[in-house]
This record gives sequence, C-alpha cells and structure tokens, in this order.
Amino acid sequence: MRSPLPAKVPAFFPFGFTIRATLPLLAAACCFLCATAAAAEPVTAGERADALLARMTTDEKISQLVLLTGYGAVTGPVQLQQSLEDNIRKGECGNVFNVMSVAQVRKLQKIAVEDTRLHIPLLFGYDVIHGYKTIFPICLGEAASWNPALIENSERVAATEGAAAGLNWTFAPMVDIARDPRWGRICEGAGEDPFLGSAIAAARVRGIQGTNLAAPDTLLACVKHYAAYGAVQAGREYNTVDMSERMLREVYLPPYRAAIDAGALSVMASFNELNGIPATANRFLLQQILRDEWGFTGFVVTDYTAVNEMVAHGSAADETEAARQALAAGVDMDMQSSAYLNHLKELLAAGKISQAQIDTAARRILEVKFKLGLFDDPYRRCDEQREKQVLYSPENLEAAYRMACESCVLLKNQNQALPLKTGANIAVIGPLADSQRDLLGSWKGEGDWNFIETVLGAIRHENTNGTVTYARGCDIASTNRDGFAAAVRAAQNADVAVLVLGESCDMCGEAKSRTSINLPGVQTELLREIKQTGKPIVLVLMNGRPLTLEEESQISDAVLDTWFPGTEGGRATADLLFGRQNPSGKLPVTFPRTLGQVPIFYAAKNTGRPLNPANPKEAYKSSYIDCPNDPLYPFGFGLSYTTFTYSDVQLDGTTLRPGGTLTATVTVTNSGPRDGAEVVQLYLRQLVGSVTRPVRELKGFQKLELKAGESRTVAFSIGEKELSFLRADMTVGTEPGKFQVFIGPNSRDTSAAAFELLE
Ligand code: BGC
Repeated sequence: MRSPLPAKVPAFFPFGFTIRATLPLLAAACCFLCATAAAAEPVTAGERADALLARMTTDEKISQLVLLTGYGAVTGPVQLQQSLEDNIRKGECGNVFNVMSVAQVRKLQKIAVEDTRLHIPLLFGYDVIHGYKTIFPICLGEAASWNPALIENSERVAATEGAAAGLNWTFAPMVDIARDPRWGRICEGAGEDPFLGSAIAAARVRGIQGTNLAAPDTLLACVKHYAAYGAVQAGREYNTVDMSERMLREVYLPPYRAAIDAGALSVMASFNELNGIPATANRFLLQQILRDEWGFTGFVVTDYTAVNEMVAHGSAADETEAARQALAAGVDMDMQSSAYLNHLKELLAAGKISQAQIDTAARRILEVKFKLGLFDDPYRRCDEQREKQVLYSPENLEAAYRMACESCVLLKNQNQALPLKTGANIAVIGPLADSQRDLLGSWKGEGDWNFIETVLGAIRHENTNGTVTYARGCDIASTNRDGFAAAVRAAQNADVAVLVLGESCDMCGEAKSRTSINLPGVQTELLREIKQTGKPIVLVLMNGRPLTLEEESQISDAVLDTWFPGTEGGRATADLLFGRQNPSGKLPVTFPRTLGQVPIFYAAKNTGRPLNPANPKEAYKSSYIDCPNDPLYPFGFGLSYTTFTYSDVQLDGTTLRPGGTLTATVTVTNSGPRDGAEVVQLYLRQLVGSVTRPVRELKGFQKLELKAGESRTVAFSIGEKELSFLRADMTVGTEPGKFQVFIGPNSRDTSAAAFELLE
C-alpha cells in the first residue's frame, strides 16, 4: 500500500531522516509527551481521582467513605445528626442524604467546597423511588405495564425532578425479586420474575442516569438491595436469607446484573444475611460476583446503619470489627452507622486494615463524583429557576398519568360491568375512594397529596350528567361497621356500586410485613353487604402486594387493580373505569388464592408427582387437600375492554443446532370492539436437563397497540441466549434436548409448539 505521506520530508524533519525511519521515534516521543501531559493534567475521571487521592490525608479519605442523613427521615437506630454542618466542615462526612431542595443542597455543598481543604463536593442521595414530586405508580404497579420504555421515561422524569431539586444520587432502582407477598417491600420491585425484572432494572438505570451522567438532569443510580433481600424468611422484614447458589444465580441475581450492565455506578448492600454472612460483609457477593465476575467499577454503599447491625446479626463482636469486615468485603461507603468514621483510623493504626483498602474505597467514590461532573461545577444541579419549572411540570404530570393508565390491571369484567356509562347513578363506596394520601403509595418522595384528585373526585368529574353518591362505609383496618348502613343505602339507590378498597399506603414498603394478605379490617364484610343489594359491583383495588381475593372476586362483577397509582392516579382510574382508556396492565406477580399457597410463582418445578389437571383430586400427587394448586390470577394475567385472539404458535423449524436460531411467531388479532394494547408473552421449557428446569420461564414479551379488527404477527427469536441456563457444573450454556415454546396473553393460557436442540 502506498504511504499517503511523501517519503522525504524537508525543513521540519531535520537530519534528512525518511518518514518511515522517523515514525517509531516520533511515536516514542509522543508517548513520552502524552504520559508527561497525563501525569501533569489528568483527563479521565479515574486519573483525576488518582491525582486527588495523592494529595489527601487519611482522614480526608475516610470522610469520603461516610454518608450521613440530613434533615429528613431516619429509619434506623442512630439519632438524627444535629451537627451535620459541623461534620462536613470538619471533614468528617463526604456525603449526605435526605437533604432536599436547591436551597438546602447549596447550603451544605458550599460548606464542603469552600470550607474544607480540598474542596471536595458532596454526594446528595435520596430515595427517589417512583417519582420525586410528581409521583408515579408504585414500582410494582409500573412493572404491571410491561412497558420498559415507559418505565425508562418515568425514571427520566423522576431523575429530572430530583436533579432539579439539587440531588445527584438516588437509592434506586430496587430490583429485588420477591415471591412472598407477606414482605412489604414487594411493592418496591418488579415482582417475581428475573426476565421481566431484568428488563425493567436496565430500563430504570437508563432513565435515572440518562446518556451523560454529568448532565444537570441526571442522577447516579444505586442498585439495591444487593442481594436476595426479597427472599427473607417468612416474608418478615430484615430477616435471614438462606438459599442455594443456584437459586441465587438463576432467580435473584439477574436483575442486579442487568442494572450494572446498563451502567449503574453504585450498589447498596442489603440488610439481610445470606447463608450466614451479612450482605454488608459478604465478599462472595461484593468481590467475587460483583467485581470479579461482573466487572462493576462503581462504589458500594451499605444500607441504613447496616454496619452496626452486624453486631446484632452476630457476625461481629463490636462495631470496630464490623467496620473491618465491611471494608474487607468491599463496602466502600458507610450509610449512617458512623462505624467507618469512628473506627477505620484505629483499625489502620492496629494494622487490621491497610491503607490500600481505604484508598481503593475513596478512589471509587471520587471517580464517580468526577463522572457526575461535581468537580467541574458542584452546583450544576442547583438552579432555583429550573427547580420551579421542572417540579410538577405539565409534561411530568402527563407522564405520570400515562404510566398510571398502563399500570392498572383489569382482573375481571363480567356482564359488561365496565366500562361505566356516563350519566349513570353511581354509588362510590369505600375507605380509599376519597383518600388523597394513599394514592401515592409508600416512598412518596416529596410528593404532596393535598392537591391531588381522588378516585371519587375524578369519577364526579367524569360523570357530570349523572349522579355520584359517596359513602365511606368503613375504615381500611378498623372493625367499625357504623358506616355500613349508609353505604348500603347509597348502593340501593344507584345503578352500580364502585367500591374502592384495599390496603393503606402505610401497609406496604419497608418494615410492613403482614401475616395475612387479605383485605384488612371489615372491607370484605362491607362488600358482602353491598352484594345483597343485587346491584352490579365494580371493585377498584389499591394494594402494594398481591392480596387474597377469592371471595371478593367472586362477589364483584369487575375488578380493577390500580396498585397505588400516584399523583395522577385518580384521573387515570376514572378514565379507565369510564372507558376513556383501555386497561392493558398484566400482573408482574402471581395472586394466590390463599396465603397457604405462598410461595407460589409460575416458574415452578414439575416435581416427581405432578398434579394431573384432568384429575386434580388424585391422591399422592404434589397438591393440597384443601385448595387447588393454581393461583387465583396467574403471572402475566390482565384483561382489556377488547379481546385478543391468538393463532397457534408457528416455528420455522423443529430442530436447532447450537449457535443457530429459530423464530416463533403468532398472529394476534384485536377481535373486539375497540382499540387496545396487548402484552404477548413467550415462555420456554427445557424438558430434560442436567438439573431440573422450571415448567416454564419467560423469555420474551412485546407490548402491541392494535386497532379494533387489526392483526399483527409477532416474532420471537430463540437462540443461545434464550436456551442457556446454569448447568449442573455451574457453567452457563445450553444442553441438547427437547424444548416447548409457549406463547400467549399470560403464563397460563398459552398455545405450544416443540423443537429439539441438537448436539
Ligand atoms: C432502606 C433503603 C433506603 C435507605 C435510605 C433504608 O432503611 O432499606 O431502601 O434506600 O433506608 O433511606
């Protein structure tokens, strides 16, 4: 090939060297110059962190490992830090949380960057879980949209609002798989399934961190609670987790991994122990899996006071030892326990930890601060003007409305009870019908509820040419029946009774485990009383977990689950009830018939004595003597005001070679009277494996908008990725053998095809 340069270079290449002879010398000179320049002026976030670290004292480094709460919530045993400003000024605290608003953030940031020797800016963390001001449906509700793009958008809105209030870090996404509805925090995640959970985890990270972490409208994501917090025994909060490595890797880890692959740069260790070692001191989780296997380069923070809690766990005799164990395991930042602040120096002096361990942790945190752009402008997220414009902007409210519409799940609709007809006489009954606060659910950020429209308000709004009578009927949880009579009267005088029942927003979330998952209080009794009137009953639910609703579903003509639908949830619910919007949500978690079936999830194993559905009473099968095996509502289930018909599954082959792909197709037709959206779901089953495989596993889904009468062919590709699993030898890969493919509108009502993966 001809060189584009002349062979002889005059003037500026002295000594008459030819260019070819000169190139290696030039390259060497360039490298030297670049290296010198790099040393003089670091460029990347990592280089800048190294350069800064070289100038820091041990105390200054330790301060970077400290995270203290500000003026907001305190959930653990440590008292609110009265002297946070002093802590920052004295270089004892490099990061704060629960400090919101530009004014407060600016005030503390100013202390850090003006009054400390090295001017290192603070991280400002907060639980922006499903919105900051504009509150979206609870995360479990958002998951019911099965719409990762929409979820990404709601995180974008949440991050934009949080960042407009001066924050730069959110303790989200929470990606814990949860299969026990007793656990109150099931409402914070995406439900029971690793595939759906992973898609949503990645979408959330993309939404939170945007495409440029340094932009003024992004937050740093914090994937939590690592790991397996959703598997606490008996669904009891903060409880022990004991599980096989296989279960951990197959079911619980994938969403954390997906979030990290999507670029999340911080991880929160969970409160629970895993197989005898608290997650906060768990090297297997924090070093081997997170860093060595997944290549995570960000930093790890504890959960609230989790370092001192290791004493109660019984894995450390005192706080000093707990701090040593946490640092050694790979925890970089201590949230609120002050154990790092109080003990790392003495541990270093005693030779129990090394300088390198402190340096590594500090460097990871500093690198992220550089990536957030904080050293270039610590006030980049502190703009009062933007704060005013962004919070509750009309576009943000509209996004919350859209999300609420897509999150609600229509569980039953008989006798065309829904949609409601405007102009009807409607009795609106129940303790949640006119509740503003409950609409927002748990972790409501800075959301105000005083101005939001309730379900009752929104129904009144829609039904101006009819009548709406309201009767509260009962409380959410008390046994007071005084309101029953008025509620019955209201129903008697109406064409239809809409009952808005469920849990209060305080019954789900952290430390909200329940031992029964029925409708609390006397709400079911109220429903029975209303049933006596013979009027059609529409049950609207608010809940942060699957509830046992067998009787309630039987009594009701229609059931719409709205979860806790957020700031715009009243309007969205009414629009769904009146048919201005068409429900399209699908359950991200199984609804059992009774708590005794728990844990119940669709991706179960077959067992050696599977129940024969044709003869469910057969003895000595894996079943109950007092309850069917199947759930009340299966995973993936949800109805629409229109109907969708599915063709049989077509496969473009019956065999597949390793590395090849098959395409499974199905034609879905909107066979009903109105436009709607449908989530088409693909499940696979490997019939025989070196370890047993679940009876089906979700491996793909697509949400389609179909006009009335419209048909669309949906294709899913099946290859190495879909067929791989954790084999008996703990390697990931495929095994030859027979597979079944199921496609349908939920995990139960599918049609099937089969193929074989050849050697
Ligand atoms: C919760 C975390 C939360 C943290 C900070 C803890 O009690 O478990 O999910 O991020 O508090 O508020």
